Amino acid sequence: MRKLRMYNNPFKGLLITFCGLDGCGKTTMITRLASDLRRCGGDVMLTRQPTDAVRHSEIFRNYMDSSEHSAYDYRSMSVLAASDRLQHVRKVISPALDEGRIVISDRYFYSCLANLRARGYGRDVWIYDIARHIIRPDAAFFLDIDVPTAVSRVRARPSEKDRYIDMPLQYRLRDEYLAICRRCGGILVPTDVSEDSTYEFIRNKVEQIMEVRSWN
Ligand SMILES: Nc1ncnc2c1ncn2[C@@H]1O[C@H](COP(=O)(O)OP(=O)(O)O)[C@@H](O)[C@H]1O
Ligand SMILES: [Mg+2]
Repeated sequence: MRKLRMYNNPFKGLLITFCGLDGCGKTTMITRLASDLRRCGGDVMLTRQPTDAVRHSEIFRNYMDSSEHSAYDYRSMSVLAASDRLQHVRKVISPALDEGRIVISDRYFYSCLANLRARGYGRDVWIYDIARHIIRPDAAFFLDIDVPTAVSRVRARPSEKDRYIDMPLQYRLRDEYLAICRRCGGILVPTDVSEDSTYEFIRNKVEQIMEVRSWN
């Protein structure tokens, strides 16, 4: 795998991203971090990738909701998601960072690379070119948990107890996330411990980064 050569955040705001399998704990940690930062006076913008435009598209829904994808080309799906992330970074995240806000994104460009590789497109290089136009987060958290636990957490949500989950894909995705985290300077966060200790770890990291950026 190549390194993603994203560009450094040129704005005064702070970009914090969370990636990992469904059920790894992203929403739980983002909710806690946002309310904590807001309590301390932080101007927080919560956002997520891909945006609803892609989430509601026929091709995305096919890959999320069904095991039969023969009518769709995965690379086409991936380019669509990458395009959406590029637009989102340039036209939604950047203006907020320019205003000095703290932007927290639920999933980020790394998820596109993880999915592309996990689906067997490890030799595609176009994604590395697009990455050059993506802002490198000030903190890129990768939450990690074993696949059975992640899936049981997803199944525990009433609305998702019968949802289609491609199990072999989850194992490959977990490996890809771990590799991308290592390769791209992410912060690995195991979530097989209590929510409180996971959160404390994340909060400490964010504080350290704020200090480095002379945030006050
Ligand atoms: N250490 C932990 N960190 C985060 N979530 C945890 C942890 N331990 C247990 N959980 C539980 O795992 C679930 C994670 O769900 P969620 O935050 O919605 O994940 P995601 O948004 O990544 O799909 C929640 O029910 C949460 O209470
Ligand atoms: Mg979530």
